[in-house]
Amino acid sequence: MLNLKGYPYGLKSLRGPRGNCNCMCLFLNLFNFYFFVCFRLVVTMAAVDRFSLLYREISRTCSFYIEALAIVGAWYTVRKCVSLALDTYSALRLHVIPRLSGKVDLVRKYGKWAVVTGSTDGIGKAYAEELAKHGVNIILVSRSKEKLEAVSRSISETYKVETDFIVADFSKGRELYPAIKEALKDREIGILVNNVGIFYSHTDYFTNLSEDMLWDLIHVNIASATMMTHIVLPGMVKKKKGAIVNLSSAVCCQPTPMLTVYGASKSYLDYFSRALHYEYASKGIFVQSLTPFVTTTKMLAFSSIMSKRSVFFPTAEEYASHAVSTLGLSIRTTGYWKHAIQFTLGECLPEWLWAWSALYLSRILRKQALAAKAK
Ligand SMILES: NC(=O)c1ccc[n+]([C@@H]2O[C@H](COP(=O)([O-])OP(=O)(O)OC[C@H]3O[C@@H](n4cnc5c(N)ncnc54)[C@H](OP(=O)(O)O)[C@@H]3O)[C@@H](O)[C@H]2O)c1
Repeated sequence: MLNLKGYPYGLKSLRGPRGNCNCMCLFLNLFNFYFFVCFRLVVTMAAVDRFSLLYREISRTCSFYIEALAIVGAWYTVRKCVSLALDTYSALRLHVIPRLSGKVDLVRKYGKWAVVTGSTDGIGKAYAEELAKHGVNIILVSRSKEKLEAVSRSISETYKVETDFIVADFSKGRELYPAIKEALKDREIGILVNNVGIFYSHTDYFTNLSEDMLWDLIHVNIASATMMTHIVLPGMVKKKKGAIVNLSSAVCCQPTPMLTVYGASKSYLDYFSRALHYEYASKGIFVQSLTPFVTTTKMLAFSSIMSKRSVFFPTAEEYASHAVSTLGLSIRTTGYWKHAIQFTLGECLPEWLWAWSALYLSRILRKQALAAKAK
């Protein structure tokens, strides 16, 4: 450290005579101080006969800091390695081991009947079929009676399980839940799949959405899962077993512009599922938030790219077969290993980059959809 002991004016004198801040005086004093520091440095350098000696002195002092930094670096590396090992293990446990080992007895684990909402098409229908493959009886809930009859018959004939259905249009809101409650009264429901969900006709700006559309999104995407869970959960708690699966979406991993309300409704489901799991896990209930990326269903029919099966875009059947194998294993998963890779990458992106990319892509999709409509 530089020794200021010999500085003739004292540090106080930097402020000028009688402590007042005269500018000229302050400047002269600073000038004096600068020359004093330079002089001392020259004297110190001269006192060291060789520069290498000075270098050794400095590096001896620094080696402590280098060692400390090395320890911090080693700690960081070990932590990263451990978390990578744990992530690899949980990915294998979730996406590989269940598919290699035999079928889990879902009936014994959760109960005889499963209720699946929005089950006449897409992921809901495929999920219901996958549960039926495990011997679970299915209650389908959707809005079209004809479709419900057809799917119900097909499942019972193909998988030799009992099926039933409830006609319900979830966009109607509060009025339809007493009837659903009544219909499910005497059933031993082991699994509830809150799958029903609607999307925009294409990606769009918030102000372009009609009031009706906004209410439909709220009623179908948010209220249905909340109310269906409220109806079914007490019975599960009484039996001390049951599973609730909520179809959220990968868009909830970061704020996604031009899917604002849809994304927010899926974030609601994600939060709802995870919080509910912690609330009811001790009572034997398993709640799962499924956050898939693109799955080729009619929901994405507005886009020619996303409605075609590809490496990262599975069909609903492929997706459901993977997703059902994660039931009981993870409270929050994409349900499909390729989507898990996309989700992890998505979470790693800075928010601005995710939002910028989403905005860019959404504008293109909107343009394409509007052009297709205009034809
Ligand atoms: N596909 C994807 O890429 C993707 C990605 C992430 C999350 N998700 C979520 O996964 C869930 C299923 O999506 P999906 O792609 O399978 O959808 P989908 O193919 O459009 O199927 C939706 C199902 O819900 C029914 N439904 C729609 N509106 C309804 C209403 N108001 N009342 C009752 N039933 C109604 C439909 O019945 P009809 O047959 O009568 O239309 C159909 O059975 C949704 O919650 C969605 O947000 C999908």
